[in-house]
Amino acid sequence: MKIAVIGAGNVGGALGTLWQALGHDVVFGVRDPKSTKSAELVKAAKARAATVAEAASGAEIVVLATPWAATEEVIRSAGNLAGKIVVDCINPLRPDLSGLLIGTDTSAAEMVATWAKGAKVVKAFNTIGAANFANPRFGSENASMFIAGDDQAAKSTVGTLAAELGFDVVDTGPLLAARWLEPLAMLWIHLGYRQGLGPTGHAFKLLRRQG
Ligand SMILES: NC(=O)c1ccc[n+]([C@@H]2O[C@H](COP(=O)([O-])OP(=O)(O)OC[C@H]3O[C@@H](n4cnc5c(N)ncnc54)[C@H](OP(=O)(O)O)[C@@H]3O)[C@@H](O)[C@H]2O)c1
Repeated sequence: MKIAVIGAGNVGGALGTLWQALGHDVVFGVRDPKSTKSAELVKAAKARAATVAEAASGAEIVVLATPWAATEEVIRSAGNLAGKIVVDCINPLRPDLSGLLIGTDTSAAEMVATWAKGAKVVKAFNTIGAANFANPRFGSENASMFIAGDDQAAKSTVGTLAAELGFDVVDTGPLLAARWLEPLAMLWIHLGYRQGLGPTGHAFKLLRRQG
């Protein structure tokens, strides 16, 4: 798949590097494609870097991995996203990580969908720390990757991208379910950074009753 990863930090850097290694065509959409930081990432990931607009325009899938506060501006910079799959990894965190800035009667994902007009928005990759993307195996279990979206085909494509990384994909239904996935991310952060489980010590797993 042709994937533009907007934001090349913990989340974007990890996802882009892993998908490129799996054979996808990844371009990082960054503020300064010529910076030393971008050059180092491009070298390490064996991918490309471009402006946000250039990266998004050539991609089938646009992954948003930027801070919540930058989201509306990033979507504006990306240009016309109509018809593309937009993967929203963003949690609308308070700057001190003490909670969410919005939620339960809306979600970051639903706001992304209003800004990215005509895009097929899928919420994913927000309920586990980025340091686990390269290794979602916990003992004998694969961590769940909860996804939500209104377009079934788009969700299936994003589910495949998560499964390729080793996640057990859980389709939680329409994009509205992001109202519950963003607080779930908050629980992951709370356990990791307030309850001492750390960045790679824990993950959520949905158990399904057999029979
Ligand atoms: N960290 C995690 O484990 C984790 C897990 C799941 C979800 N999330 C969510 O994923 C998102 C990214 O988190 P992160 O930890 O990867 O953040 P991060 O390491 O701080 O990276 C954020 C990236 O966004 C870029 N950026 C910021 N404003 C931008 C703008 N206006 N235009 C273009 N790029 C811009 C930054 O570029 P510069 O280098 O130019 O500043 C940086 O590359 C957040 O919404 C977070 O809540 C994080």
